[in-house]
Order: sequence, then C-alpha cells, then structure tokens
Amino acid sequence: MRVGKEDFQSIWPDESDPAVIKVIDQRKLPFTFEIKDLRSVEDVYEAIENMTVRGAPLIGAAAAFGLYLALLEATPQTNLRDHLLNASRYLISCRPTAVNLSWAVNHSLEKLLNNLHSPSVAELALQTALDICETEKEYCKKIGEHGVKVLEELARMKNGAPVNILTHCNAGWLATIDYGTATAPVYLAHDKGIPLHVWVDETRPRNQGSRLTAWELGQNGIRHSLITDNTGGYLMQKKMVDVVMVGSDRTTSTGDVANKIGTYLKALAAHDNNIPFYVLFPSTTFDFSKRDGIGEIEIEERDPEEVTSISGFSEGTIKSVTICPENTAAANYGFDITPARLITGLITERGICRADENEIKKLFSDKLI
Ligand code: MRU
Repeated sequence: MRVGKEDFQSIWPDESDPAVIKVIDQRKLPFTFEIKDLRSVEDVYEAIENMTVRGAPLIGAAAAFGLYLALLEATPQTNLRDHLLNASRYLISCRPTAVNLSWAVNHSLEKLLNNLHSPSVAELALQTALDICETEKEYCKKIGEHGVKVLEELARMKNGAPVNILTHCNAGWLATIDYGTATAPVYLAHDKGIPLHVWVDETRPRNQGSRLTAWELGQNGIRHSLITDNTGGYLMQKKMVDVVMVGSDRTTSTGDVANKIGTYLKALAAHDNNIPFYVLFPSTTFDFSKRDGIGEIEIEERDPEEVTSISGFSEGTIKSVTICPENTAAANYGFDITPARLITGLITERGICRADENEIKKLFSDKLI
C-alpha cells in the first residue's frame, strides 16, 4: 500500500542483512514514519507486546519471523527442539485473543520440528514466515474481491451517491501484511471508481482508528471522517451509514467474532437500524475448536493506564496526558464478542457466508478438526 510515493508492506526481511526483520513502528504513526529492526526473538516478543506491530494477521507473521530469529540465535550446543518449543510458548504468550498468533507459531513449529536436523532449518523458518506473509496477502486480496461486491451493490442501490462505510479499530493493511481485511474492499472499490466515504471510529483507548486507519485511508486518497466511538449509533439512526465492515481476531465455528472492544456495540446499533454488518477476515482467524465466543474466547486485559491517559502529538513529540483524577481505578478489556446473530455475513478468501455453523462448515469442510 502507498506511503507517500512508495509502496510498503507491514513486515519484511532486510535485503542487506539476513539477521534483521523490518517492521513499521505503529506506535509512532501517524506522527512519524519509522522503520524498526527486529534482531532476536525477544525483539519480536516486545514488538508484539508493546504494539509496535499489532492486528491479528500481522502478529502471526511477526511471530513466525520470531522463530526464524530464534534459530539464528542458536549455537552448536543448543538443544534445538527445546529451544524452539520455548520460543514458541514465549511468543504465543504475548497476546491471548488473536488466534493468528498461535496458528502461525504452531504452523511453523510443526514444519521446523520435522526438519530439525537439516542444516538449512533456519532457511526453512524464514521461508515459512515468508509463505505465511504471501498467503495472508493473497487471502486479503481475495477478501477485497468478495467484499467489493457488497459495496458495488450498495452503490447501485444509491444510484451512484457515495457509499458510507463505518469501520472500527484498524483492520487495514497495517494490521495485516497488505491490503487489510475490512479495508480491502474499500481500496478496491475506490480503484474501480465507486464513490465512497468511510466513518472511522477513533477506537479508544489506543486510538487505532484515529491514528492508523485515518492515516492509511488518507495515504491512499480515500475520503473519510473521524468520529468518536459513541457516534456510530446516531449516524445509523440518521441513515448516514450504509454498511459496517470490521475485522476479527478470532471467529468460532458458530460464527461468533472477537474483535476490538466496542465492535459489539456497533453490531447492536446496526441490528437495530437494519444496517448490514459484515466481518472480514482470512481463514487463519477461524478457531474451529471453539463454539461459544463469550464463554470460550480469552479476552486480553491490558494496562489500565491506557484508559486513564491518552497520547498525542505536541511540540514535535508524542506525549501522554492523564485524563482522570489521580489513582482512578480503570478496566481495560481489549476485545469483545459479537454474537453470530448480529452479523449479516462473514467475508473470507473463500467468499461470503452467513455467520452460521452449517454455512461455515460447508465453506471450510476441509479445515474442520
Ligand atoms: O489490539 P489490536 O490493535 O491488535 O486489535 C486489532 C483488531 O482488533 C483488528 O480489528 C483485528 O486484528 C482484525 S485486523 C485484520
């Protein structure tokens, strides 16, 4: 995707140094565009934990590169099996809700354990991480191709008046490797000349909407307006939203969706106002071992300080300010669950289906356990 006049993806190996993985430091956006080098499994852990990289598909890919860096750190004395198992556990423990993290680590680990005694096991780890990136990119592209049909249909119904899409958090290319999930159809529709406008939820407490989605859309010339997290319901009542498109961090076999905190409230408002609510994600975000999102998905709880403060840009630096009385207790749940009954459709690389166990089964029969 575009950044100024250049095309970027969110993570890539350094061409001149095979021991370095490069990422865009998302904590600094949109104020400064900085690229950060990751050189060790600890660097990767820290980058995922402090949200230098974030978004379900991207943290999975980053962790796969983490296993590659772990292998580079091994010495001839290292017990590679224990080393990889420890690194895998360590990386998976970073963030609990997005299933892509454990999926990517387990997928890589299985390959590596089967080739432990090969002299090129590190190369295999690198190739596996690169393959994950390519697959995620391909999936996101296809999500765009399926999702754009929804926007084309809405544009037809509106006789060419701009289609208003509401999105929450950042489910754009920064959260994936490229294209994004919820934003993939938006970019494609824009390229096809369909007039559109995106309502961007600011997404407290970390403001992925105001900081990342607004920046991404701006870089790619998409018309958008930033709104506070509480505005969507009113806009829906006033018929100023045609469709809601969001991403997912984990989707159960019955179609329940864990996504950034606040997604559920948008789904409720959309349901009350008969507005279609779509969830867009690659199949690597399915967790077929879980059925009941509310009972079974672990929700990440983050530092309360993210709630009691807010950060922004002032006098050339990123600053954090407190927004409540000193010592105010705060709770910081990172995600919530949108039950399948509130979802109009799931858009994956395989097409659009209802958030319904049987429909999901039909589309993904080969992936069921
Ligand atoms: O806490 P974050 O920023 O990692 O949360 C990200 C989201 O909730 C996204 O909507 C989700 O990962 C889907 S992105 C393709």
